[in-house]
Amino acid sequence: MSAFIVLGAQWGDEGKGKITDYLAKNSDVVVRFQGGSNAGHTVETGGKQYKLHLIPSGILYGDKINIIGNGVVLDPKALFEEIDYLKKAYVNISPQNLIISDRAQLVMPYHKVLDGIKERSRGKKDIGTTGKGIGPCYTDKMERSGIRICDLIHQDVFEEKLRENLKVKNDIITKVYGEKPLEFDSIYNEYINYGKALEPYVKDISVEVYRNIKDGRKVLFEGAQGTLLDVDYGTYPYVTSSSTIAGGVCIGSGIGPTVITGAVGVAKAYTTRVGKGPFPTELFDETGNWLRENGHEYGVTTGRARRCGWLDLVILKTSARLSGLTSFAITKIDTLAGLEKVKVCIGYKLNGKVIDYVPASLEDLARCEPVYEEFQGWNRSIENARTYDELPGAAKKYLSKIEDFTDTKISIVSVGPGRDQTIDVSHI
Ligand code: GDP
Ligand code: IMO
Ligand code: MG
Repeated sequence: MSAFIVLGAQWGDEGKGKITDYLAKNSDVVVRFQGGSNAGHTVETGGKQYKLHLIPSGILYGDKINIIGNGVVLDPKALFEEIDYLKKAYVNISPQNLIISDRAQLVMPYHKVLDGIKERSRGKKDIGTTGKGIGPCYTDKMERSGIRICDLIHQDVFEEKLRENLKVKNDIITKVYGEKPLEFDSIYNEYINYGKALEPYVKDISVEVYRNIKDGRKVLFEGAQGTLLDVDYGTYPYVTSSSTIAGGVCIGSGIGPTVITGAVGVAKAYTTRVGKGPFPTELFDETGNWLRENGHEYGVTTGRARRCGWLDLVILKTSARLSGLTSFAITKIDTLAGLEKVKVCIGYKLNGKVIDYVPASLEDLARCEPVYEEFQGWNRSIENARTYDELPGAAKKYLSKIEDFTDTKISIVSVGPGRDQTIDVSHI
């Protein structure tokens, strides 16, 4: 029995797609449990690059079952665009290898409109969302007015729920924000067609996931976003609207915590963030620009330049605690090659004391001064290393520091975007 979690240990874009694809080789099922099309996961294999937003990264193998869980907010337009994109790239997708939860919430056109309007109304305090309607859709879920996939399949239920929702949303859009209302007919017709196309893929995925685990199959859970974007434990309110930590797996896929067998936290060898919000180790200098260009740090979903900074071990330690990580997968260590010195943050100085956790208050976090430890860099390019021993001594020291500080071992070191550019340090 195996139920293994892959999740982001920083602010997203750590390389979860690459690590999930790598681990999926020896798995049977891959499950997305939260988030939506705000995610952008890249997988490179056979000289081709694939960008995935909603569909789990196990899809490229053809013979793995991929599940979109109830915790995901599903934009059917984005889903069918992704299916078309993958089919054009000769990826096999059918109800045999893609299953979608009947309980997943639907992202509606008014969610996307409201995401944009709310961001504009926040002015300088905007979150820098992806504009995919994620926050407004999760708001409706919690407010208990959301429309689920099972509702879409029952056309009369869908019609009633859409009418009720649209009336309220149009009131907000026109009366609060003074913008144009959305029309019922076009949304209804578009979504009824999505409902028909979705039906063959839709099931109670809790039953599917549980059965697969009990039957001894290997199930991987693929997180989206990252620990510091978690709605409870991230840098609130500069976060996404879902539970990105390990606890989110149980809720978002309908299983209990006792069946989980391990969790790997994916972390970049440095830190990046897209969108607004605090980032203690952010670099505004030449090194920050160098990391961005050398690491191709531009968003998969929005194309925005990612903010870059030194590796923050306080964040990794926090992530290990919050998700009970059994190991880390460290990615993009190849990007650091060529720097004379590399730094890691080993604490925050706050009110004359050094702390090793992320404070809740953004005001406190803004006053945190990172405490750095400096390491010798390595010049040698390492993208062709395939064993731990082939790594330069300086890179090994850097990796050892991560293990010591977080009290968590490293199971995978990634030295390039390709599936084969991966060092299996200790078999998970
Ligand atoms: P995700 O959202 O966590 O799946 O990560 P993204 O796909 O948004 O961003 C990670 C980027 O880094 C992608 O372009 C990957 O192809 C790339 N990548 C992943 N691992 C490595 C690595 O070890 N080295 C390098 N150079 N690139 C990597
Ligand atoms: P993956 O899965 C990086 C960020 C946005 C914004 C905040 C809220 O590829 O790692 P949202 O649209 O979710 O309401 O935006 O969260 N964000 C991500 N940053 N990677 C992601 O996904 C992200 N998904 C959302 O930039 O700051
Ligand atoms: Mg990404």
